[in-house]
Amino acid sequence: MGVSTDRRGARDAIEVASTDEIRALQLSRLKTTLAHVYANVPHYRQAFDAAGVHPDDLHTLSDLARFPLTAKGDLRANYPFGLFAVPREQVVRIHASSGTTGKPTVVGYTARDIDTWSELMARSIHAAGGRAGDIAHVAYGYGLFTGGLGAHYGAERLGCSVVPMSGGQTEKQIQLITDFKPDLILVTPSYMLTLIDALEAAGIDPRSTSLKLGIFGAEPWTEAMRAEMEARTGMDAVDIFGLSEVMGPGVACECVESKDGPVIWEDHFYPEIIHPETGEVLPDGELGELVITTLTKEALPVIRYRTRDLTRLLPPSARNMRRIGKITGRSDDMLIIRGVNVFPTQIEELVCAIEGLAPHYLIHVDKDGHLDSVRIEVELRDASAAPRREALAKELAHKAKGLIGISARIDVLDPASIERVSVGKARRVFDNRPKS
Ligand code: DLL
Repeated sequence: MGVSTDRRGARDAIEVASTDEIRALQLSRLKTTLAHVYANVPHYRQAFDAAGVHPDDLHTLSDLARFPLTAKGDLRANYPFGLFAVPREQVVRIHASSGTTGKPTVVGYTARDIDTWSELMARSIHAAGGRAGDIAHVAYGYGLFTGGLGAHYGAERLGCSVVPMSGGQTEKQIQLITDFKPDLILVTPSYMLTLIDALEAAGIDPRSTSLKLGIFGAEPWTEAMRAEMEARTGMDAVDIFGLSEVMGPGVACECVESKDGPVIWEDHFYPEIIHPETGEVLPDGELGELVITTLTKEALPVIRYRTRDLTRLLPPSARNMRRIGKITGRSDDMLIIRGVNVFPTQIEELVCAIEGLAPHYLIHVDKDGHLDSVRIEVELRDASAAPRREALAKELAHKAKGLIGISARIDVLDPASIERVSVGKARRVFDNRPKS
């Protein structure tokens, strides 16, 4: 499709269309989607009827707030295929995300849905700085997880040479990065850290590889982590967001020229921010829970899907669509420690800011009598920092108290003590408190 200057670097003209044009497209697509689910999905028909709303009641985009929210539990209650809006025979692909408890959440795609997803992933990789002709190393897991195949189809669509490495087999990853000389890598930020460490352990300077761009997502990561990874690799580190219930990776992606939060591809998704407890729609700029309505999906349209992700909607910058701020965390990941709300990303920021510590950390929460107790395990950046172990522990404890408001015991471990993530998402929090 080529890049032309009148498109301000966008792959598709709609990315920089006027706000009026984008809103008009959203409204017409939203009407079609509401009619589609009302006619074809008993769950939505019942939920709309119970709320006393009908697709014909939607005259403006803000009328969407009158429609009921959808939650992960609704997907579970209709397991496996009950929310499909087309005959099962038209579903060409099924993915699933493993819930922590019980049944997985199942999602399906028609051929056109796969085509849309490929286009949006191609648009995302392009926004991130990838181009046709690049070699793309995909280290997101292939399989039921949407990361691998989503990245794969998008990179192919953009015209890249795709290496479908998947997650794991760290030595093999290093070998292929060294030998195939990829331009870009698509991987979780936690596994990228593992790869950086493995390169260093193999005597390879991570700045000397062919990689120029990393497209990182599937889990929260901070600006401090971006700075760390860019400094250690010389790559551009760009944030990509998505979730399987809404599509997979590529719902939103940052532009490499601004790196100021993922742009939501608003021609296909309508975002809202709600107050997590009251469900009230909040104005742009306010922090709350991201809710997304799909505008073009056929097999599994979702209406006002509660992502549980906490963020805010930001005004357009490099494109003419709104952005989301970097995700602070999921409402289900928020720890309440002696009454103080804490996100793992806050700890990550502190760890990254202390020279001498490596960004590998685990947070353990226990009950000590009636009180919550927190222990943070973190690693020394290298063995030469060992004499400063106690001072580093003190510095982190002091910052945790002063900046977050929690008292934590800090254990500074030797380099490489904490188990590395090689497949799936990093698990950094172990909350051992009895469930009330
Ligand atoms: O993680 C899809 C994906 C794959 C996105 C590869 C980006 C790259 P799920 O397994 O359904 O789908 O998990 C979705 O992961 O609700 C967020 O909590 C979290 N998440 C995804 N991307 C980001 C990100 C994929 N960039 C859940 N920053 C979402 C923070 C993210 N959290």
